[in-house]
Amino acid sequence: MNHIISPLDLSVEELDKLLDLANDIERNPEKYAHACEGKRLASLFYEPSTRTRLSFEAAMMNLGGKVLGFSDEGSSSATKGESVSDTIRVVSCYADIAAIRHPKEGAALVASMASQIPVINAGDGGHQHPTQTLTDLLTIRSLKGRLDNLTIGLCGDLKFGRTVHSLIDALARYENVTFILISPEELRVPGYIRDGVLQKENVSYREVVRLEDALAELDLLYMTRVQKERFFNEDDYIRMKDFYILDEPKMKLAGPDMLVLHPLPRVNEIAVEVDKDPRAAYFKQAQYGVYVRMALILTLLEIA
Ligand code: NCD
Repeated sequence: MNHIISPLDLSVEELDKLLDLANDIERNPEKYAHACEGKRLASLFYEPSTRTRLSFEAAMMNLGGKVLGFSDEGSSSATKGESVSDTIRVVSCYADIAAIRHPKEGAALVASMASQIPVINAGDGGHQHPTQTLTDLLTIRSLKGRLDNLTIGLCGDLKFGRTVHSLIDALARYENVTFILISPEELRVPGYIRDGVLQKENVSYREVVRLEDALAELDLLYMTRVQKERFFNEDDYIRMKDFYILDEPKMKLAGPDMLVLHPLPRVNEIAVEVDKDPRAAYFKQAQYGVYVRMALILTLLEIA
């Protein structure tokens, strides 16, 4: 059974093929409009989501398939005490593929072990978010033309930000990629990323606190929100939340081709005035998320 729990579940070759398929879907959507007729996606969201859930649902609908599920833990049997394993066993009888988002790290993996259908991790706590990474890779490859030879600034909550962990995992496999990790001391990347990926794989990286110290060198700036829901204490969140604000004066410090990405939702970390800058690519990124999820569904269902 094929599951996507981490971005490393796909080899670089499989990833390239998936991104090619996503580009083909973008160019020829009508070719795929009936590809999933008779198939169902279960969308199991135990945590809030706008883009991930709706883009999964839109992706399945664009393929001619159907969608069922829940968008809030409170309306599922989790409130009665049902385990994720039991839920997925039952959902396996109703659907052909499932996307699951859960506040607990490892929940998607646990689900995949009990599942009869492919499981896609749509975000497990502060751990991983592989389909956001597929979205990010498609955006970068489509707009920059490459996934190697890049200097990438990751800025904000690098500790709890699961999109950052998955993106580092995925990009660390490409040639000549340098990461500049921009965060307050308290929100640096966790050890399993610093030691387990960056150091272990000999990836070039540097940690800085000030965004101004990195902007001029970047091919790409990946901004992230401070993950309020993962903080243990409100005061720490309040102290951290406006640590970075990317605005017009800061954009002047960056090169003419530096792309700005953000998984969204944005809070204050990118001023609205930046939206009209041609380097701002975060809304395009959300659109790419639909193509790549269509490609992923087709691949896991072995239709393409
Ligand atoms: C991200 C997430 O859920 O981790 N959002 C998303 O899926 N696009 C980022 C975030 O919530 O900050």
